Amino acid sequence: MLDFLKSNPAVSLLKEDHARVKELFDQFAKATNRAAKKKIVRAALTELKVHAAIEEEIFYPAVRKPIGKEIMNEADEEHHVAKLLIAELDAMDGSESHFDAKFHVLSENVRHHIKEEENKMLPKAKGVKIDFEALREKMKARKEKLLADGVPPVGEEVMVKAVKGKGDSPAQAAKRKAPKLPKRVT
Ligand SMILES: [Fe+2]
Repeated sequence: MLDFLKSNPAVSLLKEDHARVKELFDQFAKATNRAAKKKIVRAALTELKVHAAIEEEIFYPAVRKPIGKEIMNEADEEHHVAKLLIAELDAMDGSESHFDAKFHVLSENVRHHIKEEENKMLPKAKGVKIDFEALREKMKARKEKLLADGVPPVGEEVMVKAVKGKGDSPAQAAKRKAPKLPKRVT
């Protein structure tokens, strides 16, 4: 059988993660009370941090060369933007005016990233000549360790912490008063 048609253990692990996080995004969209929303956001942030770590530490380096820099560099930048939003949400307590909007935008970005991975990167990855069973085991073991010990701080977290809550200029600008303008006559 052609390699790309077979189910692939490492790719399946990533797709299971994708399905779990998309389910959390759907739950958030339907949630109506603050406590439930906060709980869903915390669960999604943990899922995303662990998932990004196993991809960046293990999966991406394993397939980067054969897949090519165009697809891989775009995926890197999508991770970077998502990680900035994740770091900002992590520093929030859920009562902020832009908390829900920030998580919604994160979910839209991640849904787009998942589509790109599942439609472009992962079908190509299936053709790479590596032991995907061993790759899955490596990712699984790392995932368990990260879930037990916590994900080490990433560069985006350092960036967000350094600006002490003042890094989101549009959210700051949203506090401005409307400009004084003459009333429209008609
Ligand atoms: Fe990814």
